[in-house]
Amino acid sequence: MLTQDQLKQQVAQAALDYVLPQLHPDSILGVGTGSTVDRFIDLLAAHRSDFQAAVSSSERSTQRLRAAGIQVLDLNEVTSLALYVDGADELDHQLNMIKGGGGALTREKIVASVADRFVCIVDESKLVERLGRFPLPVEVIPLAREAVAREIRSLGGQPRLREGFVTDNGNQILDVAGLQYDNPAEFEAVLNNVPGVVSCGLFAISGAQIALVAGQAGVSRLELQE
Ligand code: A5P
Repeated sequence: MLTQDQLKQQVAQAALDYVLPQLHPDSILGVGTGSTVDRFIDLLAAHRSDFQAAVSSSERSTQRLRAAGIQVLDLNEVTSLALYVDGADELDHQLNMIKGGGGALTREKIVASVADRFVCIVDESKLVERLGRFPLPVEVIPLAREAVAREIRSLGGQPRLREGFVTDNGNQILDVAGLQYDNPAEFEAVLNNVPGVVSCGLFAISGAQIALVAGQAGVSRLELQE
């Protein structure tokens, strides 16, 4: 029986195998955040001369990329990204995701929005029939925290401040339990419209295009028809 750590390692390797043939010396790769992505970065290090640079979704990943000898560009210096590789806290079969367990959701959503293809890498514990067990991270401007929390309660959620945590953007996170997503994209749009919300961890208006899911029987691929 493989442990969750071994499954993360397996899917990181599968991501590398998927990405490498698509990289050229002038390619720029979007890189997400989290323990699964950390393993991907570690594997990528040996191939740093196969591509030009990365764009990172967090200070944490930036540090790891640089330590691996990979050049990191600011997103403002980049006009397009073919691929963005990132983990998720929950993934459904339509490739909608909940992200932000590591608090990097806003930069993740921004970098992903520039990429042509979001490649989601998870172990099978993240694959669910219906999103909602994992509390939804919502990044808020500190001044608006209580106003946003009230609005979220009126939508049926139970927000809880992530104590002692400040995002890379200087904001706070509310982790929201108790939400039901009949239509995840619609709910994402509702949250996006609450003043003071910077972004929410629902990635449904724009989800992943491909998911690599590591399980006991190997890595399987889920892909949406374009
Ligand atoms: C970071 O903010 C998150 O969106 C991560 O992508 C997510 O939490 C997955 O992390 P792990 O790979 O550590 O499970």
